[in-house]
Amino acid sequence: MSRIIIITTSLRAKSNSDILAEQLLAGAKDAGHDAELISLKGKEIRFCIGCLACQKTQRCIQKDDAIAIADKVLHADTLVFVTPIYYYEMSGQMKTLLDRLNPLYSADYRFRSVYMLSTAAEDEDFVPEKAVSGLQGWVDCFEKAELTGSLFCGGLTAGGEAAKAEAHLKAAYEFGRALR
Ligand SMILES: Cc1cc2nc3c(=O)[nH]c(=O)nc-3n(C[C@H](O)[C@H](O)[C@H](O)COP(=O)(O)O)c2cc1C
Repeated sequence: MSRIIIITTSLRAKSNSDILAEQLLAGAKDAGHDAELISLKGKEIRFCIGCLACQKTQRCIQKDDAIAIADKVLHADTLVFVTPIYYYEMSGQMKTLLDRLNPLYSADYRFRSVYMLSTAAEDEDFVPEKAVSGLQGWVDCFEKAELTGSLFCGGLTAGGEAAKAEAHLKAAYEFGRALR
């Protein structure tokens, strides 16, 4: 059993990626994992200001919602980042959070596996590539961890469409079941 933190980063009501994240969560729980879903909706996560104080203290000087998320990430075995594709990249809020996890860089973090689930309006294989590459860059800096897998669910435009996308719902659930 792994302690899994799933961070869903869309701020949209009826978010497609949230719907798929719920399926992923169900799959992970059914596989026996201790899984928790965290949404960035309503959270205050300021930009990293690059002071690097965190490299001495393992804490960020900015007191906002990134502190509690970083604490959960620190103690997780497995991370899943869920994002809509924005201009062929991860969402800005996901990138902002990755930067604010910088206190973990010099900490005794536990996670070894990192995954990504992405959604987009287009459905071609190339659409998530830069987002996956961006997350790979973050994971490369955490040498004890690896980007273990990613799932792309394309062809989703309007909010809530994912609820009727049977193949994507099933794929997200199975993706959750296969997490390690
Ligand atoms: C600012 C912005 C940029 C987007 N850029 C892309 C894109 O580059 N390629 C694409 O296929 N869809 C793009 N989309 C569409 C979203 O990825 C798509 O609607 C997705 O289902 C949104 O997920 P969500 O409902 O979880 O927020 C963009 C949407 C927004 C709001």
